[in-house]
Amino acid sequence: MKIKGIIMIIMVLMLFNCKQNEIRSDADVTKIKNDEKINLMPIPKDMHLSKGRHYINENFKLSVEGQIGKMTTNNATRFLRRLSGRTGLFLDQDFITTKSKCDSAELKIISGGIGKVKLNVDESYSLEVSEDGIGLFANNGNGIIYGLETLLQLLKADENGYYFTNCKIEDEPRFPWRGLMIDVCRHFYPINVIKRNIDAMLAMKMNVLHLHLSEDQGFRIESKVFPKLHEKGSDGLYFTQNQMKEIIEYARVRGIRVYPEFDMPSHSTSWFLGYPKLSSLDTVYSVERTWGVQDPAMNPANEYTYQFLDKFIGEMSELFPDEYFHIGGDENNGIHWKKNKDIQKYMKENEIKDKHELQTKFNQRILKILTKYNKKMVGWDEILQPNMPNNIIIQSWRGKEAMIEAAKKSYNTILSNGYYIDLFWDTERHYLNDPIIKDANLSPDVEKNILGGEVTSWAEFTKAENVDSRIWPRTAAIAERFWSPKYVKNVDDMYRRLETVSFHLEELGLTHIKNREMGMRRLTNNEDVNSLRNLVNVVEPIENYTRHRRGEKKRYLQQSPLTRVVDISYSDAPIARKIRKATNEYIKKYSSETTEKSSLYFTNNPKQYLINELNKLSNNHKKLELIIANSPVLKEIKPLSENISKVAKIGLETIDHLESNKKFSQKKEQELLKILTDFKKPIAELEIRIVSAVEKLVMVASGE
Ligand code: ACM
Repeated sequence: MKIKGIIMIIMVLMLFNCKQNEIRSDADVTKIKNDEKINLMPIPKDMHLSKGRHYINENFKLSVEGQIGKMTTNNATRFLRRLSGRTGLFLDQDFITTKSKCDSAELKIISGGIGKVKLNVDESYSLEVSEDGIGLFANNGNGIIYGLETLLQLLKADENGYYFTNCKIEDEPRFPWRGLMIDVCRHFYPINVIKRNIDAMLAMKMNVLHLHLSEDQGFRIESKVFPKLHEKGSDGLYFTQNQMKEIIEYARVRGIRVYPEFDMPSHSTSWFLGYPKLSSLDTVYSVERTWGVQDPAMNPANEYTYQFLDKFIGEMSELFPDEYFHIGGDENNGIHWKKNKDIQKYMKENEIKDKHELQTKFNQRILKILTKYNKKMVGWDEILQPNMPNNIIIQSWRGKEAMIEAAKKSYNTILSNGYYIDLFWDTERHYLNDPIIKDANLSPDVEKNILGGEVTSWAEFTKAENVDSRIWPRTAAIAERFWSPKYVKNVDDMYRRLETVSFHLEELGLTHIKNREMGMRRLTNNEDVNSLRNLVNVVEPIENYTRHRRGEKKRYLQQSPLTRVVDISYSDAPIARKIRKATNEYIKKYSSETTEKSSLYFTNNPKQYLINELNKLSNNHKKLELIIANSPVLKEIKPLSENISKVAKIGLETIDHLESNKKFSQKKEQELLKILTDFKKPIAELEIRIVSAVEKLVMVASGE
């Protein structure tokens, strides 16, 4: 109470001189009227931006008071270094400690309590910036560290120097569970990869890291109780317990809970190399090198399994302090259960009619073990079966139905369906996927059971080198969905802000931009990469799990190279998107429909933009084929490159036609559309993402 009282008084006493300019509509949310745009992501709950600016110089200092813990001191220190790094200012302040109270400081941080990593902790904060000072207030450290991230995002520059935009912000998240799941099994990532992703999570105000630690393809954590798990099941690629403690602490000071997933009873081959008695089929196991659903599964009819899992879960419960524990539970095909006579006998004796009932029995035993170790169960939506108590959390991945059903039955639930970033979807599609499904008409009480969501980063097609580029920047847009008010859904503005967010993520150490360039240098043997970059800017990997199911001569294995053009390509190719957008704007003038004002943020002349980009692409193949000639690894994209130039030429020809008020004949239109359809066929697992735009141009030029 005392601290809150002080906070209130200081808030009132601080002289804030904002010329407030209330902005709440979706389209305007990041814009100061008649002025600059703001690059915040996620958008705060309540934000009033004004025109004034708070300039900073070498004398900038911050002060902490109230109840201060490591979460605040550590991040306030990081804030200073990041601020100094971005501005080049030689700031005097070094390390912030609990005693860093300084009356003359420009940034006053006041915290009512130390930060905690726990579900449903208060994460709110208030931030005020005016010419005279900056105040950051929160009920505890979690809010403080989010306020610091917001403040850094407000930093801009003009001819007079670096400044924070004047504002008043009252912020708190829409959902308490804002997660990222990282699969470290299909491919393993060393500790520095996890740490830099944790930094990015904090920057986007995410608070749950779900580590998928065991799979058919690898067992990725050291077990001291059952050492053959990591010794035999990991190819030597696993986190030691000390490393995991380091990750957990690193995440903790960033307000992020870390909880483990041990997938069972299926997705479990790697356990059986060291402990075959756990399995359902008496055979020799090896680490699985291919992708997809596999047959091996733990034996639910053998007491040994439960004795083993009791000891193992006991060990892991101590290592992972979070109250939640994920048991997987997905995609058990039941094939090995069918092949095991003892399991069949057990089912008969216990009147268990199918694999679902048997898995529920198994889950009930696991739940008892988890409860003994004070853990709450989380599982994929397959675990939602009759006879499971409703104190477990359902993670919905197969569809929204399971989430709605779970929420209605009073289960807490989190959404991952729609947030599978390994499907190579555009950012927009993930961004507009809301955990609260409008058509479900859930009552407010039922809605409360939906805790939020988790982005899932499965690792069939990612290695340490390209994983950041698959997670970021798209995950930032999903993080906004988890944090910001529901009305924040202006796609153009999201893309605009994402460009800034993306390079700020790079500043944190993420490699999503620089490794793409490195990959291109490797592919071209350090020849000029410009023409390859032009191609990469307009193609995307084939969507969904089509890459898994190619059935061509090249079958993917765990050890396959992930260094081809498809592996460095964008899931949401930026220039292709802008070409599609500019096309939509350009053809409006040929449409009789009245349309809204242009919302392009990258150009105010869509025609000129299209002509420039299409010109570049139409000439690109001539240059790229010279590079391809000396890079055997690029041979597979030669026809793709050729097709891109042809598509661009058709686009240019069509614009020319439109501009001279000519129309294509029906025959010509059909001819062009047929050619364009052929260009949609994937080559080297890549699709040209500007074909649909050129099709539209052709149709307009044919009078449609
Ligand atoms: C899953 O994607 N099998 C949970």
